[in-house]
Amino acid sequence: MSDTKNGARSRRPPDTVPGRMKSRLLKEGPLGVLFAAVFVALFYLWGEELLPRAAGRYGQMFPFVGAVALTLAVALFLSEWFGFAGREVRKVRLAARDFLFLCILALTLFFLAKAVTDILPAAPTPRGGIIPSRIYVYLIPFPAFAMVVRILLNSEVAILFTVAGSVLTAAAAQGMWSTLLFLLLSGTAGASRSGRVPDRYKMLWAGVLTSPVCALAAVALEFAFHGESGIVWAGIFGALNGLAAGPIALAILPVAEYAFGYTSDIRLVELSSTSHPLLRRLMIDAPGTFHHSVVVGTLAEAGATAIGANPLLCRVAALFHDVGKIGKPEFFFENQAGGSNIHDNLTPGMSRIVILSHVKEGVRLAGEHRLGERIIEIISQHHGTSLLYFFLEKAQPMIQERKASEEGFRYPGPRPRSREAAIIMLADTAEAACRSLRSPSSHEIEEAVTRIVNRAYLDGQLDECDMTLRDLSTVGKAFSRVLAAISHSRLEYPKAPVSRIR
Ligand SMILES: [Fe+2]
Ligand SMILES: [Fe+2]
Repeated sequence: MSDTKNGARSRRPPDTVPGRMKSRLLKEGPLGVLFAAVFVALFYLWGEELLPRAAGRYGQMFPFVGAVALTLAVALFLSEWFGFAGREVRKVRLAARDFLFLCILALTLFFLAKAVTDILPAAPTPRGGIIPSRIYVYLIPFPAFAMVVRILLNSEVAILFTVAGSVLTAAAAQGMWSTLLFLLLSGTAGASRSGRVPDRYKMLWAGVLTSPVCALAAVALEFAFHGESGIVWAGIFGALNGLAAGPIALAILPVAEYAFGYTSDIRLVELSSTSHPLLRRLMIDAPGTFHHSVVVGTLAEAGATAIGANPLLCRVAALFHDVGKIGKPEFFFENQAGGSNIHDNLTPGMSRIVILSHVKEGVRLAGEHRLGERIIEIISQHHGTSLLYFFLEKAQPMIQERKASEEGFRYPGPRPRSREAAIIMLADTAEAACRSLRSPSSHEIEEAVTRIVNRAYLDGQLDECDMTLRDLSTVGKAFSRVLAAISHSRLEYPKAPVSRIR
């Protein structure tokens, strides 16, 4: 929980623990210096027009002095830029994996910028004119890269990437002001139009919407900095750049998802299909758990929509949250279908081992099926460090005789670290609690949901996620609404006389 009194979102990031900050610096510091060194080495080998100016008098005496100085400057720029944002903005706190991904995108842009400005020659036009080689900078596919960053990471990182990436790419492409401003504008346009793209059609449409902005920006900047001679081709190249952004981003996404474990909205929609092998196994081997997961997904989606979290991620992660039960479905109440309870013949200690293991097993299966880190994290956090209340009660005599401890009946954690994980934890418990009520009234459902939310909060399960009290109350109301609709008493069908059935 980020605050406890007024419900306003905390401005303080939750993990400013000195140890954690230190480990972040250790991870990202060397990566930043390494990336800067690679970048400057490329300039040194390939960017003659930039480095001699940077090296100056000392550079001619000691050729590497200029390269070292530029490495230092780029490393400082990156560490200051991302360090400042990472400390102050929660969503910009990058993992080493994210940093590496952004560095690879920036290096790819470097090569593309060099390719379009150095390799493509000045070409004759059909009307006997000439396309100057500088006009090709309007073909650098920066909007597509900004779209990918927005889709796989978030809008805050996309803004930072657009600014830092524009500076580095423009420097590689002859360092013109017109290029820098075009990249800034086109990258921002691409990122801003690709917020929620759950299918390929929306992705292509985002590129179509980016196209006029790129064309107008190219025409205006070409005219302002170089005169009217190249404005037509600048406009054409700018428009093509925008149109190509969708297909290029679509080509990059699966590669990035496979290599870095990201999960885009398009991938989430694919995973939600019941033809997924893991969901099919859940449906056949543990039908009770499958039904429970679908209801948890509906609740979590409603809760996430109510507070502006990610409803698609909630619904899909909820479908997979209990896949770890596939191996031993009969040990979980929802699959016992009113038959004998296997736990009656087991000690609470034995039951505890089987029940707790479903989280670890779920993480293993999710990794095996490459569900992506966002879903794997939610599976590992969906019980937090909460207590197994039912078996704890059964084990009370052993605890009193000091043969067992209460702490042994807790899930190993970690506790939810995102709003989506917290919503799924609450939806999971709320569904199970309301299932045990017989024909509950709306008021009884509301009371049960409030009790569950309060218990999770008081037990400290929501301490590591960014949920405010207002969020909790809103999520609870959304759950109650859906649960009341699901559990409303149904009209009884009149029984037809046997003679009429025949
Ligand atoms: Fe579970
Ligand atoms: Fe569950």
